[in-house]
Amino acid sequence: MTNVLTFGTFDVFHIGHVNMLVRAADLGDHLTVGVSSDALNFSKKQRYPVYREEHRMAIVKSLACVDEVFVEESLELKGEYIKKFNADVLVMGDDWAGKFDHYRELCEVVYLPRTAEVSTTDIIQSIKEQLD
Ligand code: CTP
Repeated sequence: MTNVLTFGTFDVFHIGHVNMLVRAADLGDHLTVGVSSDALNFSKKQRYPVYREEHRMAIVKSLACVDEVFVEESLELKGEYIKKFNADVLVMGDDWAGKFDHYRELCEVVYLPRTAEVSTTDIIQSIKEQLD
């Protein structure tokens, strides 16, 4: 049984999120997703996500490839989460390439290529422009 763990905000859910989660699930038998809290997003970006954390978690949990979700309260706790969820593989997007290599003492670390030309930030921007 190979446990896979990944993290993200998954706000305004889009095809890049689907591709990432399907490929992450393919790396093992059980996929757990840490969905970053509203407060964590505010501290990172000085704005709240469009969808609140309960809704972002429910959307991610509804996917057939996702087995379990939890709230990621802090970026600093990834090592604790790896141990708590018995992760064999930590999966991150390649925008983070190299940044999580120190967790290789706890589990395998895999960076997956991002889907080109889609991001939550761009979607929010394009909706704003269409409303202007
Ligand atoms: N992701 C991806 N391809 C994309 C967008 C996101 O593979 N085009 C992956 C990220 O690498 C991460 C997960 O999906 O592993 C969650 O990403 P998140 O930061 O929530 O989404 P973004 O669309 O990148 O959001 P933002 O624009 O706000 O940074």
